[in-house]
Amino acid sequence: MASLTIRKLDDAIKSYLRLRSAKNGRSVEEEVRVILREYLEGSPTPSGAALARVPVVPAEASASVPQPARRTGDGRITLIIGGGIAAYKSLDLIRRLKERHIQVRCVLTKAAQQFVTPLAASALSGARSYTDLFDAESEFDAGHIRLARDCDLIVVAPATADLMAKMANGHADDLATAVLLAATRPILLAPAMNPAMWSNAATRRNAEQLRRDGIHFVGPNAGEMAEAGEAGVGRMAEPLEIAASAERFLRPKPPQPLAGKRVLITAGPTQEAIDPVRYISNRSSGKQGFAIAAAARAAGADVTLITGPVELDDPKGVAVIHVESARQMLDKVEAMLPADIAIFAAAVADWRVAHEGGQKMKKTAGQLPPPLQLVENPDILATISRLKEKRPGLVIGFAAETEHLIDNAKAKLKRKGCDWIVANDVSPATGTFGGDRNTIHLLRREDGEISVDDWPVMTKDEVAVALIAQIVEALRTPA
Ligand code: PMT
Repeated sequence: MASLTIRKLDDAIKSYLRLRSAKNGRSVEEEVRVILREYLEGSPTPSGAALARVPVVPAEASASVPQPARRTGDGRITLIIGGGIAAYKSLDLIRRLKERHIQVRCVLTKAAQQFVTPLAASALSGARSYTDLFDAESEFDAGHIRLARDCDLIVVAPATADLMAKMANGHADDLATAVLLAATRPILLAPAMNPAMWSNAATRRNAEQLRRDGIHFVGPNAGEMAEAGEAGVGRMAEPLEIAASAERFLRPKPPQPLAGKRVLITAGPTQEAIDPVRYISNRSSGKQGFAIAAAARAAGADVTLITGPVELDDPKGVAVIHVESARQMLDKVEAMLPADIAIFAAAVADWRVAHEGGQKMKKTAGQLPPPLQLVENPDILATISRLKEKRPGLVIGFAAETEHLIDNAKAKLKRKGCDWIVANDVSPATGTFGGDRNTIHLLRREDGEISVDDWPVMTKDEVAVALIAQIVEALRTPA
């Protein structure tokens, strides 16, 4: 079905199709085909008002959306058990991995066999355990290569200081180190050793080298050691923690629909100085803009976030630029162009004082308070929307209103010249400013008209994922 035909459908159906296709990670056209197929096969499709409330959390747009672990037979781990007292916990780790339907094959170092037996590891894993590089039965066809390659992940738990040193230096003088050297799969280490050994300069160097070599770590944790009276960092991570960490490597990688796209996002308030100690600002926390940056990054985009002063941690994998005033924010936005998509979620102060005081303004007894003359700040959204050369392909503004939400948002869409407006009610009762939830109305220009999609109340993270899904869909179906 041509996209032209879809655009002519009435708004409720279009809105339903968009939400449903975003939820299922399909294009609108594909979704229509699925609905028709369902209809022909006799499975009912919901209709009417219920359609508008389809939850909008497309798995592809967010790495944070839980994905099912693979089922039996798909996830395969080679577990290398090193020689340390924490080896007894590796038996529990085998159980935790098996609970997750992961196949486990164990390799025990010579030292590990002082703490646990190959028989115990085999009984729990349900598979033969391996101990010897020169085992005639398994090595007749280079078994260490199979152990290294016929798996999705190699876990070393406990990873002793000695094992780490051998790995960092490329030794292969027993089965465990030979498997590790031959590995082409990711390797996850769960170090376990005495705190003094963990903090020793040689171990620090080895750990650093292994990280540079692309080896992953879980733990060690702080806590009491097996040796009486010893405590510190060096305890092996708990089996559940290691299993959860390992499972992440086994999940299918979420698709990256925005890979190769540059996304520019503004967030937070701006602060407009009155004098060196006072400023004009607003109640924006930056949460909504930061959530959008994280969702865009999870969808594979190259994200730059330009934020006013907030108390949030920078989202992982996002280039974050911190500014204070509207004029600084505009400078940085312009400097970061070109971009494919720009999303302006910042609550930029509309005004600043005309004459910023160089010194703290003094209160003088008997005198009236000083008058504050305000001048208008540059409008970042309008400036970028009107660019001739470097205008991003999709420019999205926000509208924060306390009354006549949709009418004011429509007027802003026209006045500022952006493509979409995300309208939200910021009346104090809604808790939108600073809170964790938001209720969105998405306004888009379509064929000279403005369409309005009303979303149910969602967390700001969900709003972000849903907005990114709508962007992905719009890029798939160019106007
Ligand atoms: O930060 P949170 O606590 O999570 O709250 C989120 C939010 C309410 C701040 C966010 O969802 C939101 O609505 N952001 C826009 C706030 C705002 O300033 O809206 P406005 O209606 O005043 O401005 C309209 C648009 O123009 C916005 O995209 C704004 O970024 C932009 N603008 C405004 C003034 C200006 N001088 N330059 C601009 O670019």
